[in-house]
Amino acid sequence: MKIKITALLASLVLAISFSASALAKQELRFPINLPEAKEGQVVHVPPTMADLEDADLHPELKRTIRRGYDLFMNTQQLRGKNVFNDMTCKSCHMGEGRLPFAAPVWRAVIAMPNFRGKNQHVNNLEERIAGCFAFSMNGKPPAYGSDDMIALTAYHQWLAKGLPTFERKNFYGRGYPIEDAPKAPSYKRGEKLYADNCAICHSDDGSGMRVDGKAHFPAVWGDLSYNWGAGISRLHTLAGFVRNNMPLGQPLTMSVQESWDLAEYIDSQERPHDPRFTGDLKETRAKYLDTFHKHTYYGLKKQGRLLGDHDNFGEKDFIKPDNLRPRTYK
Ligand code: HEC
Ligand code: HEC
Repeated sequence: MKIKITALLASLVLAISFSASALAKQELRFPINLPEAKEGQVVHVPPTMADLEDADLHPELKRTIRRGYDLFMNTQQLRGKNVFNDMTCKSCHMGEGRLPFAAPVWRAVIAMPNFRGKNQHVNNLEERIAGCFAFSMNGKPPAYGSDDMIALTAYHQWLAKGLPTFERKNFYGRGYPIEDAPKAPSYKRGEKLYADNCAICHSDDGSGMRVDGKAHFPAVWGDLSYNWGAGISRLHTLAGFVRNNMPLGQPLTMSVQESWDLAEYIDSQERPHDPRFTGDLKETRAKYLDTFHKHTYYGLKKQGRLLGDHDNFGEKDFIKPDNLRPRTYK
């Protein structure tokens, strides 16, 4: 069975979730070729912003969702306040946070509140979003309950339209899936692949490309990229992101091996500290080893350099944002 793909605006289908077998009749409304759903997977097609105009929702709610969409697509408007690198939510959650295999964000709406291994307590949707601000945006989350946070959660919730809560289903296109590397990943091969396929947009030194002082293509390492605590700094997540999404507009052109080689190369470069830094690199790696750093090179020696051996937190003048404090019940 093949998923039929049509141009983004060509369809009248509203948000629907259905089993893989019903998929042939439906349209995913994504402009690129996507792999078929596997047997038993549930496909969710999130609504678009065009659908919002026709939805039976209070005009104030629509306004809030539009604001959330705007923040998601251009998070740089919060630069210096909440964002301290060149990222925007859609830098990693592509296709407006809707695209399968680009970590579509709607699942968090129905899965949260949930226990998160990364911070070892129950998180709600705001706190999940705060995580991406603190690590992926190397920043400081908007306050819980603030206008910006409510706007962002409202946009996420709009994308989840039609889904039941507390669903533990096997969702088609969640995260950045990838198989294990056939051979051990190679820095040398990754370096060559990067020069041939990626440097044209992300530049030789990983700093991306700027137009009129603004990030046009985001930085993949260095001061203006995500920090060492970001989910995508894990090798498998980065490899999966690349395999499914890069080079831009050409998903699945890098083989599984090539994607891992690229992740090996990119992950062997420097970036701002994990904001959970205790002041001691070894200790920080050890403290978060099981829940996180066993998948990263932070605190390890690569190509003769000890990664994370610096006092660089990027553009921030703080280390860890206050609202990331752990929650415990007495
Ligand atoms: C540098 C890349 C990057 C950026 C930028 C980024 N994220 Fe994420 N985000 C991730 C990764 C990686 C995950 C985990 C995906 C997985 O499950 O493998 C994630 C997960 C999420 C999830 C949970 C999705 C799920 O399926 O459970 C939400 C919600 C989310 N991000 C929201 C945001 C928002 C809002 C922004 C902007 C403020 C943002 N992200 C910016 C990389 C990023
Ligand atoms: C034509 C330009 C282009 C090429 C070529 C390209 N990228 Fe990207 N890349 C982008 C854009 C644009 C984004 C952000 C997505 C968005 O905003 O829609 C991005 C995002 C990323 C991200 C996540 C955000 C970040 O900055 O870390 C990574 C990692 C990445 N690309 C790696 C690669 C790799 C590896 C290659 C080569 C296989 C590659 N890219 C090739 C344009 C490009």
